[in-house]
Amino acid sequence: MSSELFHVIEPRVFKRELLDELCDITDTARALAKTKEGAAKLHASLADKRAMLYFTQASTRTFLSFNNACHILGIGTSEIRDPAISSEIKGESFDDSIRTFSSYVDVIIMRTPERGLASRAAALMDEIPRRVPIVNAGSGPDQHPTQALLDIYTLERSFAGRGGIDGKTIGMMGDLRRGRTVRSLCYLMKNYHDVKLVFISPPNFAIRNDIKKHLAQDKINFTETGTMDDALGSLDALYVTRMQSEWDVEGESLKVNLGEFSIGPNEMQMLPQEAVVMHPLPRGPEIDPAVDSDPRAVYWRQEGNGMWMRVALLIKIFGAEL
Ligand code: NCD
Repeated sequence: MSSELFHVIEPRVFKRELLDELCDITDTARALAKTKEGAAKLHASLADKRAMLYFTQASTRTFLSFNNACHILGIGTSEIRDPAISSEIKGESFDDSIRTFSSYVDVIIMRTPERGLASRAAALMDEIPRRVPIVNAGSGPDQHPTQALLDIYTLERSFAGRGGIDGKTIGMMGDLRRGRTVRSLCYLMKNYHDVKLVFISPPNFAIRNDIKKHLAQDKINFTETGTMDDALGSLDALYVTRMQSEWDVEGESLKVNLGEFSIGPNEMQMLPQEAVVMHPLPRGPEIDPAVDSDPRAVYWRQEGNGMWMRVALLIKIFGAEL
């Protein structure tokens, strides 16, 4: 068993051994949940724990999958999804709010529109007597580590008969500058051998230099292109993302010719037969719903995997025995 896990703030702490272990726990929990006895065992495993879901930025999947992951494990949940209904509206500081949550619960799962707040909450916890783990469920345009974990699980299991992620060529397409899912997934790639990344984006939405620097340091092979057609034929996976237009300053997303970065039945013909198409969702026009029925489209499976990987993560954080 790999070492303990406490705060989950950014993906770089996840080493191969821990990633493999989390994927295995995900499979075990999933299999258990299929029988009544197994589901009862899961439900008893963390029934003495309570979680705070503090989501002050929009969320459907991450919130619901964490919420349901907690319930599968018997963890009681409380939530704040709008700072306007918490004492922050009365001027309570972020630090005092987090400290308050920690008085009542055993883990704080949080998403904020600002970057850096999950890490600030973790630093605060490390200074107070009732130290509870902080899980970053999305920190502004910066990081989304638990999405990266479920993406790794989806990739590993999609390539199960073909040696897993090692040796694969993975395309990442869309708004790579502001999309935190791709940024977090890139950080995990150093754990796999001979991976090639192909970044496909409009010129103004290219992957940022901090990620490129990290990839170069870890000797991860990557190329950048503005033309999807050149890349599709060589890919084992295509990870599509939406334009993150909520960060636009002057409608810059609207100037992109999205047709060049979207896939439909025609583009699917250029992808190899054994390739997979992923998307963190929610989708915009970048994936035609007609693609959903193609067996290579795995984004709905990926979405379901999210809940089970979050079950595994909570099991690991609390050291529960299955
Ligand atoms: C992503 C996010 O919030 O970063 N959604 C998710 O958590 N599945 C992707 C996105 O919003 O584009």
